[in-house]
Amino acid sequence: MLLLTTITGVRARRRDLRLQGRTVALVPTMGAIHEGHLCLVDRARELADEVWATVFVNPTQFGPGEDFAHYPRDLEHDRALLAGRGVALLFAPSDKEIYPRPSATVVDLPELTAGLCGTFRPGHFRGVALVVTKLLSIAQPEWAVFGAKDWQQAAVIRRLVEDLNLPVRIEVAPTVREADGLAMSSRNAYLDPDERRAATVLIRALRAAETAITSGERDGEAIRRVLTEVVASEPRAQLQYAAVVDPDTLQELARIGRLALLALAAHVGATRLIDNLLVEVP
Ligand code: PAF
Repeated sequence: MLLLTTITGVRARRRDLRLQGRTVALVPTMGAIHEGHLCLVDRARELADEVWATVFVNPTQFGPGEDFAHYPRDLEHDRALLAGRGVALLFAPSDKEIYPRPSATVVDLPELTAGLCGTFRPGHFRGVALVVTKLLSIAQPEWAVFGAKDWQQAAVIRRLVEDLNLPVRIEVAPTVREADGLAMSSRNAYLDPDERRAATVLIRALRAAETAITSGERDGEAIRRVLTEVVASEPRAQLQYAAVVDPDTLQELARIGRLALLALAAHVGATRLIDNLLVEVP
């Protein structure tokens, strides 16, 4: 696996591959690679001739008081895992390489980012949208693959690619879960054993709400109550939001039609976790 740290290096490699007629699927990450990321790599391998990954802990998507300074960083470990799964090129730039000076350009999608996580992490999606736009412009992949666990992020990226006519196709791969249902996340590493057990309350709440829908409940507020009550039953969890939204527009649903996205954010101890479930009504 080739490890590159400069934009010029990535662009040169991209030029060579294009001359050979080979395609690229990109998996952008912030490192702390786990099986969830590796499943994105597996999906990427099905889409293109080469899989490229990026490891960059993007400072612009962290708010004041968030975990930027403490975010787990272990490039050697990430590199071994990604290489083992067949990644051909890893781009791991420095902060200065990506932001030689503060960006004067803002990539903002207010309609998609006012609610859900956007309410509690002001500026977060601007940071994500900016860095993903940069990474796509640097690597120029045919495909880019993201995880469904970060549903709002994926919706933002899909929409910015459409609005800016970026020549890339976005693939959103299913959430990968631990055996007890907890969605895989780099932040799970922050949980102590009791918190780790308590963290399953997110998927338990989502499944209870899904059952309510499949049993015939169609009222958005009633479904939100199910989510809220299940999370409240776990003393170590502090709900941040419980939402029932349209999966494309992310607008709250008063009545459930054919598709609903159930979305949750909660603190378990000091760790903020998110999860979601797409429910299709037969
Ligand atoms: O999902 C992530 O890991 C990050 O938000 C991303 C897409 C790599 C941008 O920094």
